[in-house]
Amino acid sequence: MNNPKIIVALDYAEAKNAIDLAARLEPTLCRLKVGKELFTVAGPVLVEKLMQRGFEVFLDLKFHDIPSTTAQACKAASALGVWMINVHALGGRKMMEAAKEAVAVSARPPKLIAVTLLTSMAQEDLFELGVLASPADMVLRLAKLAHASGLDGVVCSAQEAALLRQHCGDEFCLVTPGIRPLDAASNDQARVMTPRAAIDQGANYLVIGRPITRADDPLLMLRNITLQIADQ
Ligand code: C5P
Repeated sequence: MNNPKIIVALDYAEAKNAIDLAARLEPTLCRLKVGKELFTVAGPVLVEKLMQRGFEVFLDLKFHDIPSTTAQACKAASALGVWMINVHALGGRKMMEAAKEAVAVSARPPKLIAVTLLTSMAQEDLFELGVLASPADMVLRLAKLAHASGLDGVVCSAQEAALLRQHCGDEFCLVTPGIRPLDAASNDQARVMTPRAAIDQGANYLVIGRPITRADDPLLMLRNITLQIADQ
């Protein structure tokens, strides 16, 4: 089965830009990620349109609420027929188990993954919250909790992928943003890794935004990256 590893982040404020970009890409080579901004503006109608073009969609809404509310949100997202959805692991075991149960009843359950610690959170931010653990320890703790709660995987940096793979097993799905092809600008990403290196570290899927969305020829860039990560 065709299982493209690249997830193109559609970080746009308008549906039109997302549709235009999708029209220039190829569903056999990538999936598409719709996040909070675009979904708030364009909603399920846009998700439907992208799927009609043959793309599988990662609905990146990072749900975080009491278990029953999160479960209902996950159920609603599953009903859209998307390929992947996510929640915050900081919502805890009960919330994640409720989310898992809610998607399991859908005809084609989406992959359900967790965000561990936001990469914007540094040590001083954790201290301010009363959390004494280091960001790295929190990431591992939350990934293990997501795994134990029955989730399919986590979003993580490629730098963390090998360690999480070791602790959470071969079946656990690792989705890594912060990916930059060798010749691309890093933009505002502080720690980046090439597509090939991220796959070698154990990433299953790569979230890539601007290197593709802002390329002169997005399809050519997508094809190039696909070649770079092809099995050797
Ligand atoms: O344009 P770029 O490749 O940096 O886009 C990366 C995408 O991954 C964006 O949608 C961003 O919000 C998301 N992301 C990230 N870092 C995380 C989690 C998500 O860059 N830790």
